[in-house]
Amino acid sequence: MRSYRKILNEIKPYVSGMPIEDVKRMYKLKDVYKLASNENPFVPAFVQKAVLKELKNINRYPQSDSFALANRIADKFDVDIRQVIFGNGSDELIVMALRTFIDQDDEVIVAYPTFLMYELQARVCGAKVVKVPLKDYRYDLDTMLAAVTDKTKIIFIANPDNPTGTYLTHSEIEVFLSKVPEDILVFLDEAYYEFAPKDFPDSRRLMERYSNVIIARTFSKVYGLAGLRIGYGITNIELVAVMNKVRDPFNVNRMAQAAAKAVLDNPGFVEKVVKFTVREKKYIYAELDRMGIIYLPSATNFITIDFKKDTKDLFDFFIKKGLIVRPLSGWGLPNFFRVTVGLRKENVKFIKLLKKYVKSK
Ligand SMILES: Cc1ncc(COP(=O)(O)O)c(C=O)c1O
Repeated sequence: MRSYRKILNEIKPYVSGMPIEDVKRMYKLKDVYKLASNENPFVPAFVQKAVLKELKNINRYPQSDSFALANRIADKFDVDIRQVIFGNGSDELIVMALRTFIDQDDEVIVAYPTFLMYELQARVCGAKVVKVPLKDYRYDLDTMLAAVTDKTKIIFIANPDNPTGTYLTHSEIEVFLSKVPEDILVFLDEAYYEFAPKDFPDSRRLMERYSNVIIARTFSKVYGLAGLRIGYGITNIELVAVMNKVRDPFNVNRMAQAAAKAVLDNPGFVEKVVKFTVREKKYIYAELDRMGIIYLPSATNFITIDFKKDTKDLFDFFIKKGLIVRPLSGWGLPNFFRVTVGLRKENVKFIKLLKKYVKSK
């Protein structure tokens, strides 16, 4: 028997939302709708065109530092290009931050529940993970502060949060940052930033004021490039330089770089997706209200539903009918599930099936 790293005996692999292809095959279905992974339901033609155009270059490695794209992001945020770093999805920025800061037995503070990748990757890196329960489904920043020790290296904040969809305001984050010791990295994960309301933090300003802040954003959600894997971080020049030591040299492929450039060149697409999502959320909220089903108002493109009883049976019912949602038992919320805002026809199917299920019980 080979001897693997001991910590891996205690770690379960990340379980992703079920892919459409698997559900089609397993249940012999022709049409399957996936509302499980907070993806964007649109793939604009201009992005497909940009990717196809890049195909002729796939014999060449991509630009290691995503230079052209980094310039675009630096312009957009009015920062130095050396403050920008890209990841193979923002997932990889989480890994890079951990590889940059964590020595064995250092501590990382996360909320519970929150995006699972922080805990998983921190443990893989040998960190001790301190979990601070949410309060009323929101981050409890005071208790997170109280959890800081001289071993704390990173505090992860998903804002807006996944899976609750709640968010922290500018003043809440600002007060928090003013109290966190400067040698602790505060990882502001803003994967759903573009969907958030107006009083959402101006993290660009906070990052300027607090040198221990990294902002992580992604092209997977509102930009619709989840399948290509690209996200970015913005922080100070020194930190980017150190993170580049742990970054895979060719971590962002050519297609992803080309597609990201194309979506940045067409801001109308993002506006359209945000407007559409707001409208569809209203439709879903109204239907849930009518059914008396409790949900957490969401600052994102998904809605988390408190079903008040175990959701396994509901999940099985949905999946046999070709609809994939996300039960939240893996987050310690067995009575909750999460549904991503999809196309109108997908949302209608979700509501119809939910009604049918509720009626049948
Ligand atoms: C809070 C949060 N952060 C990060 C990610 C990772 O996104 P990606 O790696 O696709 O950029 C997700 C994906 O669901 C998320 O919900």
